Amino acid sequence: MAVFTASDASAESGAALGPAYDRVRGATRALAAPLSAEDQCVQPMEDASPTKWHLAHTTWFFETFVLPLADTSYRPHDDRFAFLFNSYYESVGPRQPRPQRGMITRPSLDEVHAYRDRVDDTMRAMLRRPLSPELRARVVLGLEHEMQHQELLLTDALETLASNPTLPTYRAREATKETAAPALHWIERAEGLVEMGHAGAGFCFDNERPRHRAFVERFSFASRLVTNGEWLAFMNDGGYATPSLWLSDGWAAVRSNGWRAPHHWIDRQGAWHRFGLRGLRPVDVTSPVAHVSFYEADAYARWAKARLPTEAEWEIVATHARPPLENVLETGALEPRPLESNGDAAAVHQLFGDVWEWTSSPYVAYPRYRPLDGALGEYNAKFMCNQWVLRGASCFTPGASVRATYRNFFPPAARWQATGVRLAKWNLRT
Ligand SMILES: [Fe+2]
Repeated sequence: MAVFTASDASAESGAALGPAYDRVRGATRALAAPLSAEDQCVQPMEDASPTKWHLAHTTWFFETFVLPLADTSYRPHDDRFAFLFNSYYESVGPRQPRPQRGMITRPSLDEVHAYRDRVDDTMRAMLRRPLSPELRARVVLGLEHEMQHQELLLTDALETLASNPTLPTYRAREATKETAAPALHWIERAEGLVEMGHAGAGFCFDNERPRHRAFVERFSFASRLVTNGEWLAFMNDGGYATPSLWLSDGWAAVRSNGWRAPHHWIDRQGAWHRFGLRGLRPVDVTSPVAHVSFYEADAYARWAKARLPTEAEWEIVATHARPPLENVLETGALEPRPLESNGDAAAVHQLFGDVWEWTSSPYVAYPRYRPLDGALGEYNAKFMCNQWVLRGASCFTPGASVRATYRNFFPPAARWQATGVRLAKWNLRT
């Protein structure tokens, strides 16, 4: 499951991109391999896309934004694919409605593989020649885009398998050892003017720039993520039945969706189980809770007499802590894992792995933000409304995508991604 490294990814780096291209493209195919052709065509819900669509769309991205820049005479592999596999680029042309991607039974999976092979051959030939800075930047963006889709491929496949009455597994379960969740510590941080946002030459998305100043009040930051056991305590205390804990829109979502537990939790004869890519098993009380919405995270924080961190708080802690990569895609765990040791009481754990962490920050542009020029300006900028920022990484995130400045974003009711909770508090000491 190798991917390319951050140093490979730099648009300014002189490193050859051919090996990185092969690794990323090969990793996507490998992630799809455990799924049947039927699995790969299904669309279980509007937000999720079929695996086959991810395989084709990531290929369309190179065919649309890279190859014509390298060769103005380039002709698409199939004229129908621009309609079928354009995701949301209005300036590129019309497209299959997102909720109906599962109706694309043709081209077949084999034909999509042939599409990938054809574009890969053309890309490899291109990558053997000198690249202009703009072309190099587009190739790097295409690889970063494909790694984002590797995570989506897995979370969408989980949704597909969870929709099958037989609850098939993606990969067999690993033996796990029982551990107790270490105590949660509060890490205190001083108030002050901080800098946040990406700086330097390495790759980042446009929404991570520019680096700018923000004032942060004195706060306390939880040393670890909220666990399933803590979430069960919230549920058993009537968390899903107490309107005063919820934002108005959140309570409406609880009522209309019938939420009474995290997504992928199943009640089997009074015992809560959790379904993941490794199958159904009793809820592990020491693992981080996953697949909760912003509304649920916010209500839990209120119940716990705390709050969600702002993205500025999260970033300055993560930048300062510089922890190693934790439970990301390369561990192969494919589900959140318990924290084994708290070690140093001043340390912050689980920042870069297990689950994405909801913040209290709306997804809006940084001061002086400027989107990419042209159609690629649609990549991030047009979603800066009615969504919330998540930070960190999940057990489905390729390690090479992980940065302290990375801004993930989803609507507040979304639950199909591996999204969890870290708490923060105002520090009112004088
Ligand atoms: Fe995409």
